[in-house]
Amino acid sequence: MRAAVFQGSNGEIAEYFDDLEITDPGPGEVKVKIHAAGVCHSDLSAMNGTLPQPAPCVLGHEGAGEIVAVGQGVTTVTAGDHVIVAWNPACGTCSNCRRGQPHLCVTIFMQGMGTAHFSRQGSPVFGFAGNGTFAEEMVVSEHGVVKIPDDVPYDVAALVGCGVTTGVGAALNTAKVEPGSNVVVYGLGGVGIAAVQGARIAGAAEIVAVDTVESKLKDALRFGATRGVKPDEVDKTNMELNQGEGFDYSFECIGLPQTIRAAYDAVRRGGTAVIVGAGRAEAMIEFNAFELFFMEKRLLGSYYGSADVRRDFLRFINLWKAGRLDLEGMISSRLDISQAQEAFDAMKKGEVIRQILTFGSPA
Ligand code: APR
Ligand code: ZN
Ligand code: ZN
Repeated sequence: MRAAVFQGSNGEIAEYFDDLEITDPGPGEVKVKIHAAGVCHSDLSAMNGTLPQPAPCVLGHEGAGEIVAVGQGVTTVTAGDHVIVAWNPACGTCSNCRRGQPHLCVTIFMQGMGTAHFSRQGSPVFGFAGNGTFAEEMVVSEHGVVKIPDDVPYDVAALVGCGVTTGVGAALNTAKVEPGSNVVVYGLGGVGIAAVQGARIAGAAEIVAVDTVESKLKDALRFGATRGVKPDEVDKTNMELNQGEGFDYSFECIGLPQTIRAAYDAVRRGGTAVIVGAGRAEAMIEFNAFELFFMEKRLLGSYYGSADVRRDFLRFINLWKAGRLDLEGMISSRLDISQAQEAFDAMKKGEVIRQILTFGSPA
């Protein structure tokens, strides 16, 4: 089986192999034939130590495909169903699930992290975050897939599995952006562009898109941003749009201390700064004890778009069907799985929104 694997100690290298093996689905598990996988920054973060991950592992946590086998007791999907992989499944019974925060469920996620469904030359190979969509087939809990209509193209569906849900969900679920508000989004990869679209869907008046890469500033306008600016132009834009008071909402979609601090600074007194980017555990950010209470800003973390994947995946597909969420436009390129490393090289340059990996079958 073809797959892209991170070996562990060799830097940010996604190695391509064609000799991976995979277990059959156990009780409660399903086997998915992946038709399209999206390349997300978190896959790179797994390789450079930003996100903890046992190795070797098959990379990838964003993907869509078809159920090819189900294990004992599986009731929610059957062979032939088209599905999106939900990288953080909800068990339905733990305290987080019962509180109505299924995206914070860790029960199945932790089981998946510690189980090697893949192997190569007789040695176990994990899947990134318990997934591993950069492989022709993967095995996950039945809770880790969401059935979608057969007429949704796999590449469009794949994006919903992480980037779109993370970004649009941050705007609609975490921040609950109010119509008519002014928004600034830092970082215009797949996640940031999805946040721009989420703010547009919510009815934001001004959406300022911020990136260090020039081409991204123009790209963002296609998705509803009203302006694209470099980081050093945010203050000037804030003067023009908000009389210097600050934005109503900011979204940090990078994961760096300086941009998290900038996102906090960019909102007005009483405004909301949403931290979507996944940063390193040892990276520190300073806030002074006066500003935290005096400014009364809401500093919100956003994990997987605060989404209930069973509700939100279909909600985002419906928005796409209605022409209100541009998913095709987010696909910068399509590459074969053997070109996974090229995809990461392009991502590091910051010039692509989302890249799709395929396995030789139509995406
Ligand atoms: N200031 C502004 N923009 C920046 C900066 C900076 N200092 N550093 C990087 N960027 C831009 C890049 O140019 C790129 O356009 O941020 C964007 C990041 O995009 P991707 O690498 O494609 O990342 P994406 O997949 O969108 O993920 C963003 O969300 O889920 C998390 O782990 C993920 O932390 C990552 C973030
Ligand atoms: Zn992701
Ligand atoms: Zn749970």
